[in-house]
Amino acid sequence: MELNNKVIIVTGAGGGMGKVIVSQLLEEGAFVVGIDLSVSSLETINHERFVAKKANILDEQEIAKIFLDTNNKQGKIDGLVNAVGIAQQQSPIEDVSLEQWTRLMNINATSLFITVKEAVKYMKPNRQGSIVTIASISVVRPRPGLQSYIASKGAAESFSRAMAIELAPHLIRVNTIHPGPADTQMLGQFVGGDTDFTTMKDEVFKKSVPLGELIKPEDVSNAVVYLVSDRAKVVTGATLHVDGGRGL
Ligand SMILES: NC(=O)c1ccc[n+]([C@@H]2O[C@H](COP(=O)([O-])OP(=O)(O)OC[C@H]3O[C@@H](n4cnc5c(N)ncnc54)[C@H](O)[C@@H]3O)[C@@H](O)[C@H]2O)c1
Repeated sequence: MELNNKVIIVTGAGGGMGKVIVSQLLEEGAFVVGIDLSVSSLETINHERFVAKKANILDEQEIAKIFLDTNNKQGKIDGLVNAVGIAQQQSPIEDVSLEQWTRLMNINATSLFITVKEAVKYMKPNRQGSIVTIASISVVRPRPGLQSYIASKGAAESFSRAMAIELAPHLIRVNTIHPGPADTQMLGQFVGGDTDFTTMKDEVFKKSVPLGELIKPEDVSNAVVYLVSDRAKVVTGATLHVDGGRGL
């Protein structure tokens, strides 16, 4: 097994991608702590190496406590996977409130400041660690009406690159994954109010992928396993497009 003895924290663990990421990390032998605002989808994961923690990713104190408890109980933290995120309903900028912009920036970007800061505390003394952030291919291939979401994901990628250079002397690797349109409940949340999602899913999202299919959570979790594993020991500051060619 690829990840035997690794202790990995996953945010957004209860989501479409998060749950599959958690399951695959467990299959590969890791001890996993999953954080989400809603942990009900995680109830079916009954595993001795899994702990679910219900928390708001922006609650700095609560998140700090989860990292501290994990380190105290497991003796170390090897990996952090930031899969938390929210979508923006497609809308022209004039119709987007400052409150909506701020919420997207907070959950998709500021949350990374909170979790990476905590992870680094425990990774630095061990001189090893791997941090993976799920951003979005929309950063390089934007769609109209998603300006706030795309800006938040651009911040996620540039923050990861900035941390990769800052943490390289400590042998902590930081990488980004840009998924293309993925078959989770989030996809429907990008669609504007008057638009039919079923038509949009086949006619717009699927057709926008050169390889001809929507991305599956498993496609993203395969990339996560690689990036947190020692096979990727010289990979840092990279952005892996898991997008069926959507970014081309
Ligand atoms: N689905 C797509 O088409 C797509 C494409 C590219 C990138 N992404 C990104 O991939 C990641 C995973 O997306 P997904 O498709 O699994 O979406 P999802 O909505 O299924 O999962 C996101 C999870 O984040 C959790 N969450 C939201 N706000 C939170 C908060 N304040 N505190 C704690 N948890 C919170 C939600 O409860 C949910 O379980 C996200 O960062 C998303 O932006 C998704």
